[in-house]
Amino acid sequence: MAMNLLPGGHWSVVPPNLESARLILVSNRLPISVVEGDDGPSIKDSVGGVATALKVCWPVDRRCWIGWPGDLSRFAPVDVSMVNRECGRRALVPVQLSSGEVERYYEGCANSVLWPVFHNRIDRLPLENHQFDAYRAVNERFADAVVDVLDDDDGRNDIVWVHDFHLCLVPGLLRQRRPGQWVAFFLHIPFPPLEVFSILPDRRELLEGMLGSDIVGFHTTRYRDRFIDCVRALVPGARVKDEGVVYEGRRIETCAAPLGIDADDFRGEGDDQIELEMHKLHTNPDIQVLLGVDRLDYTKGIPRRLLAIDRLLELRPELNGRVTLLQIAVPSREKVEAYAELKVQVQQLVGRVNGKHSSLAGAVPIRLVSHGYSQKQLLSLYRAADVMVVTPLLDGMNLVAKEFIAARTDDDGVLVLSEFAGAAVELRDALIVNPYDIDGTARALGAALDMSAEERRDRMRRLRLKVVGESPRAWAEGFLKLLPFMPPVLLGVGDER
Ligand code: UDP
Ligand code: G6P
Repeated sequence: MAMNLLPGGHWSVVPPNLESARLILVSNRLPISVVEGDDGPSIKDSVGGVATALKVCWPVDRRCWIGWPGDLSRFAPVDVSMVNRECGRRALVPVQLSSGEVERYYEGCANSVLWPVFHNRIDRLPLENHQFDAYRAVNERFADAVVDVLDDDDGRNDIVWVHDFHLCLVPGLLRQRRPGQWVAFFLHIPFPPLEVFSILPDRRELLEGMLGSDIVGFHTTRYRDRFIDCVRALVPGARVKDEGVVYEGRRIETCAAPLGIDADDFRGEGDDQIELEMHKLHTNPDIQVLLGVDRLDYTKGIPRRLLAIDRLLELRPELNGRVTLLQIAVPSREKVEAYAELKVQVQQLVGRVNGKHSSLAGAVPIRLVSHGYSQKQLLSLYRAADVMVVTPLLDGMNLVAKEFIAARTDDDGVLVLSEFAGAAVELRDALIVNPYDIDGTARALGAALDMSAEERRDRMRRLRLKVVGESPRAWAEGFLKLLPFMPPVLLGVGDER
């Protein structure tokens, strides 16, 4: 942070100029990922909310993005050079991780330990080997990569913006390397309650790492408040004041800034082939399509969603053969045991429900698709759905829910949304369900299928008013503008230590 010492020993902060500032984005996942195909590596767009949002949040010519391009460890040098060239073309700075780092930092610590704890799923924790050493070492590498791209040495023109749970230590490590640098941090997933977060042996180091930022952001006030509770309880010397934290002579702002999507991206033409296929699915006008689009992740509530379909067909046998759930389940983190187990569980449940309710004629109750779609293809799927089913057990935000609304320029379609998705704070006109309540979810699905055209239109119009006014750009600017904030009482030198 650019700071001047004023007479009387007070700091004044010179804010970065957002009109000209260069943004250094830092996230584990880059917007492109390398995947291994039969003919060698190929590059594809990354799936996930962070990649979706960040790629449109700041002008390309004023941004540089540091992150991991996917596992290159088995690729030949010529293929690695191809990936590096492609990254260079898009102002991406790849941080390459060895296979050991991928295993211990990404699959081990980040996705086997932090992800379940932050999502309140401590039943998914491994018994031992939290691999925090590997996490710390990779965070050090990311911090070094940031320092390598910074322009000047007083931090005035560059804002470093670190994202998500993989990189909680990076702000603190940057503060050690460049004390005057502007650093922001945003957590895209929920923050757990104190008694759950406290399970982590390295809880204090994680919090201190995040407090290396000038501002720490969350999707909802509930997550922000929990972070503050944890800081208060677990970081000696930190003092909470006016929703900020005073720590080591600095003030750290905290805020809730719900991420939105760019509705314009979901206005245009869809994909012809998908439209044709969905049209065929609808050919019998009696068939209604429920749609789920998720990474195959145990936080997304897919098994209970399948059981809700089962229950719906038990409660309403007349719907048999007339409804189908099209569940897109994009493979994710496949080497992590909990994800491999989920895949088997989902496949078994689909088989069970389909076996129980299928007949020779009519729609299959559940169609499971195990690969991802492009944004354009998703647009066609969103438009063809009668009911969008977004029922995570817990989700930081959930952009799919907002994309569905943005795509429904026809003011039609019903959104069934979990009360435990961050998006539910804003999208109150959805049919809100508790995904743990399978009977209640089944009844809500039935109500969605029965809803009159008039009610569908009224609800969708109100939902659209929320979503079309948002954008990742507005979110980023609104968040970063909080950087220059100073507390009502300026901090004296050495205060609050
Ligand atoms: N997505 C995609 N292709 C797919 C499925 C999902 O591009 O086949 C995108 C989707 O459009 C959304 C993001 O991945 O922008 C998922 O974000 P969300 O916040 O819903 O969940 P996350 O995966 O980040 O937990
Ligand atoms: C969530 C996380 C992101 C992550 C995405 C996809 O949205 O918040 O940080 O990139 O899932 O997961 P992956 O492990 O493939 O990066």
